[in-house]
Amino acid sequence: MRIDVVTLFPGMVRDACGWGIPRIAQEKGLLELGLWNPRDYAQDRNRRVDDRPYGGGPGMVMQVQPVHDAIQAARARGGGPVIYLSPQGRRFDQSAARHFAQLPHMILLAGRYEGIDERLIERDVDEEWSIGDYVLSGGEPAALVWIDAVTRLLPGALGDGASAQQDSFMDGLLDYPHYSRPEVVDGKAVPDVLLGGNHADIERWRMKQSLGRTWKRRPDLLERLRLSDAQQALLEEYIREQQTTDSDQGP
Ligand code: ADE
Repeated sequence: MRIDVVTLFPGMVRDACGWGIPRIAQEKGLLELGLWNPRDYAQDRNRRVDDRPYGGGPGMVMQVQPVHDAIQAARARGGGPVIYLSPQGRRFDQSAARHFAQLPHMILLAGRYEGIDERLIERDVDEEWSIGDYVLSGGEPAALVWIDAVTRLLPGALGDGASAQQDSFMDGLLDYPHYSRPEVVDGKAVPDVLLGGNHADIERWRMKQSLGRTWKRRPDLLERLRLSDAQQALLEEYIREQQTTDSDQGP
């Protein structure tokens, strides 16, 4: 996969992709990263890429020409959809990550300042995506989130081939709790079932924890799912156990 990023801070994206899975993916040749700085395409003597907004108001707006030329350069090398990262976009989630992980190329456009001139967006942007309902001071952290979420799904990027399959959200549920050595920490022991070596019991326990956590923490996710009869039974078991624990502990 090739991802081109149009950004005023190419160093920020390059450096952050030099760690963890994005680094390994690049080393293995699974991910090729291209960086394009609109400032390199500015025609202005001072290499300006922004100007004041028409109509007044605070902040500056990124101008059409340097951003357009940087996108054109990225298109010539890679291609794929031009994706503008902004809080106005569609919400990025795991199923979007899965979708984009299938594409051979994409161009991420990270904005700065108050935003980008709307005419650039109308002409050059294919899709607008947001990583959440909050405002970042630039699209770069969003591009990094995107790159990480997408590249870890590329076959071969994770050491253990199965681990992306078992992640949170792969089946629309939150992840179950994980434990490693030592067996007891501050008097808290690892759940017995995980020590027993019965794989069917372990799978059942993990599914129950995933269902239970999702029910407790993100009931909105659960509403979107159709649970199997077995999952429904496990969730009911979890809720019953929860109620007994609550009444044991008193008010
Ligand atoms: N740029 C600024 N805020 C953003 C957000 N929430 N998602 C994507 N890009 C952004």
